[in-house]
Amino acid sequence: TVQLIETVAEVRAFGARTREAGKPLALVPTMGALHDGHLSLIRAAAAEGADVVVSIFVNPAQFNDPADLAKYPRTLERDLELAASAGAAAVFSPSVAEVYPGGFATSIRVGGVSERWEGASRGASHFDGVALVVTKLLCMVGPDVAWFGQKDAQQVAVIRRVAADLNLPARIATGATVRADSGLALSSRNVRLRDEQNRTALALSATLRAAKAAVEAGERDVARLVSGATAALEEAGARVEYWAVVNPESFEPLETVVPGEPALAIIAARAGEVRLIDNAPLTD
Ligand code: PAJ
Repeated sequence: TVQLIETVAEVRAFGARTREAGKPLALVPTMGALHDGHLSLIRAAAAEGADVVVSIFVNPAQFNDPADLAKYPRTLERDLELAASAGAAAVFSPSVAEVYPGGFATSIRVGGVSERWEGASRGASHFDGVALVVTKLLCMVGPDVAWFGQKDAQQVAVIRRVAADLNLPARIATGATVRADSGLALSSRNVRLRDEQNRTALALSATLRAAKAAVEAGERDVARLVSGATAALEEAGARVEYWAVVNPESFEPLETVVPGEPALAIIAARAGEVRLIDNAPLTD
């Protein structure tokens, strides 16, 4: 079973014991409501022989809508069992006061890579809040490696930027997007999809597969890929926030896909009220 840790002092002591035992320490940051996407990161971290700490912290700093924060699912008992089953050694679940004690006054502002797409849709402060809490978690836990899902590709790019800019010592590792058999990327929001919205949701991954196939068949023009994909999504009843092709490091938009050069297709769309994101590389 996993150890439940609620304070910074305790999680530091846990890390010190791991190091004394000569083992690497891995961190998997989450906001809980664990599903197979989270568990795949825990399994990948454990497979490297590390003691895995899973953090579960619903971070107020990255929510711009208090209602969204209030209704975020909280399922700690179940999460403890799932984390244990995937091979976690400890779950670090601090209170808001432990992470943001009275008088807290420091912020992290990430430029460039955080500004477009999710940054624009969710408000500029979203990725600042993510960067702040991830930096703090890395300082609190002190892991050798921290794991993030490719499902949130822009989040990965922002965290890599922060880690490089602030010389954060941990290695940043990524795990592939875990999907249902239907192709739908797993997300804690999927439970809110009703039948017909489920069909709409499937169109996200379908447009990514179609775009990849078009590129393999010789399409290079991003404008044509985007118009085909957005038409297909709207046809399926989705409201498209963006469908774009970007450089996966900078998240600057590309106009042309060049074989052999990285190009990532990214989507945000609503199926009913449920906001979904997905992404896939278009080149190998
Ligand atoms: P959360 O949404 O709980 O996600 C935790 C981690 O699981 C993230 O790295 C995310 O990319 C990954 N993940 C989610 N769905 C996945 C899927 N289908 N396949 C693979 N990985 C998946 O992302 C956050 O929390 C927060 O912003 C956090 C980084 C914890 C900072 O608060």
